[in-house]
Amino acid sequence: MSTFGSAFTGSVPQYYDRGLVPNIFEDFADMLVAQAAPFAPDILLELASGTGAVSQKLRAAFPDGTKLICSDLNAPMLEIAEEKLKGSANTQFKIVDAMDLPFADDELDLIVCQFGVMFFPDKVASYKEARRVLKPSGRYLFNAWDALSQNPFADLANRLAQDLFPSDPPQFYQVPFHYHDPKQIEDELRQAGFTSISVEQRTLSKTIRSLDVFVECLVRGNPLADELATRGSTPEDFQSRLRAAFVEAFGENPSTMPLSAWFVEAAA
Ligand SMILES: C[S@@+](CC[C@H](N)C(=O)[O-])C[C@H]1O[C@@H](n2cnc3c(N)ncnc32)[C@H](O)[C@@H]1O
Repeated sequence: MSTFGSAFTGSVPQYYDRGLVPNIFEDFADMLVAQAAPFAPDILLELASGTGAVSQKLRAAFPDGTKLICSDLNAPMLEIAEEKLKGSANTQFKIVDAMDLPFADDELDLIVCQFGVMFFPDKVASYKEARRVLKPSGRYLFNAWDALSQNPFADLANRLAQDLFPSDPPQFYQVPFHYHDPKQIEDELRQAGFTSISVEQRTLSKTIRSLDVFVECLVRGNPLADELATRGSTPEDFQSRLRAAFVEAFGENPSTMPLSAWFVEAAA
């Protein structure tokens, strides 16, 4: 599950930001920031900031006195976030692997992470790191995708990958959707020492902004395009098949799809 963590590079970040953020990440970002807002942290770390879908909203939600550290494993993703927040007060950008946090024990008040933990190769080890750098009064807030069956946009892409390459299907769409058991999430946080854990399902009915752009970015805005290339296929072929599957499943003009995620809060 770890091999895709470092594959958000090349042209992926631009496609990700253009087509995935508005369709599948922005609304959940609003929910996560609303959950974070009452904590009034002095120092706030965002893990796996990506292109800044949550970072911008975090900066707007807290006063300039709150130090915001936006971080990601992949510089090309974080560069887009940095560009969006250019000139913001008390905001830093740092390349950080969530498995090995470059902070002292008990340094931070709050850690926020949107749709990142699924990529962390050892969840318990990453939670232990988060707890180590949080103050005893600190909180960790994150979300993770629900199962493929609850997120049919990804289920369609994953099924298409399996149908086209039955003997060696591209694996990407299984990675972000593999960590969806609320009991497992709670147990693993407890193993790392977190307490007062809540894991709640949040669902949305999302109207797709532009089906063509969304479908293009579902293929090119993540490591799937590379997986297709290594199998001698093209993004265009996959996109046109995926578009047809979307129209059949969700209709067109507008296409509306359900989305589901787990929202997690834990005390250090
Ligand atoms: C699905 S994106 C989420 C980005 C952003 N939070 C958002 O809501 O759009 C997952 C992000 O996790 C980052 N990532 C993967 N493995 C990581 C790790 N070990 N440490 C930190 N970030 C990681 C990737 O670079 C990517 O930007």
